[in-house]
Amino acid sequence: MLHVLNHPLGDHLVTQLRDHTTEPSTFRTLSYHIGLLLALEATRDLPTGDRIVSTPMERHTGRMLAKTLAVIPILRAGLGMVQPFTDLFPDVSVGYVGLERDHTTAIARSYYQKLPPLAGKRVIVVDPMLATGGSALLALNVLHDAGATEISLVCIVAAPEGVKAVETAHPRVPIFTAALDRELSANKYILPGLGDFGDRLYGT
Ligand code: PRP
Ligand code: URA
Repeated sequence: MLHVLNHPLGDHLVTQLRDHTTEPSTFRTLSYHIGLLLALEATRDLPTGDRIVSTPMERHTGRMLAKTLAVIPILRAGLGMVQPFTDLFPDVSVGYVGLERDHTTAIARSYYQKLPPLAGKRVIVVDPMLATGGSALLALNVLHDAGATEISLVCIVAAPEGVKAVETAHPRVPIFTAALDRELSANKYILPGLGDFGDRLYGT
């Protein structure tokens, strides 16, 4: 269930994110804007219910959101994609899963987790980079164990290797990405990619 954002503005924003001359301040703004597009795409199928309102003219049966969201950024880089969700969905709960890839093995280890109640919610994991998929798989397992039953994964750049890993282990988890890249490098960075997202977001 891979959904690649197919929008000219998405391509325009990702190309600027890829550019190595883009400074952290611009990088953060671009991440916010691409996050808005992805947040809309990932919530396109949210259920709604009837709500009767009186317009200044007459009574009208409108539609209101019928499910609450929980957004779970994978620290650190995922933090750059939280604000689009909190701006668009003010009732969203926010939880955190802290993971870090080892620089030599590229294997992710968990160092922090703080989660809101997840039962009955649409749980959206945000992490801009899906490379080997190791971090996403760890996070999805944590969320399943915490009671999440309806999970989506939203990223900005995905590698085929990471998509395959998630699809194999969690076939019911839809993946939303702004770009599907070519492959991983020998040291497990995405090609063409954009480098280390967290470092570029925070200037480290
Ligand atoms: C990056 C990225 C993902 C992970 C993807 O985080 O934000 O979490 O790598 O790689 P994977 O699919 O191979 O697991 P990183 O571990 O560099 O930590 P950071 O966000 O703190 O920079
Ligand atoms: N994490 C990143 O930030 N970038 C990559 O290319 C792979 C993992």
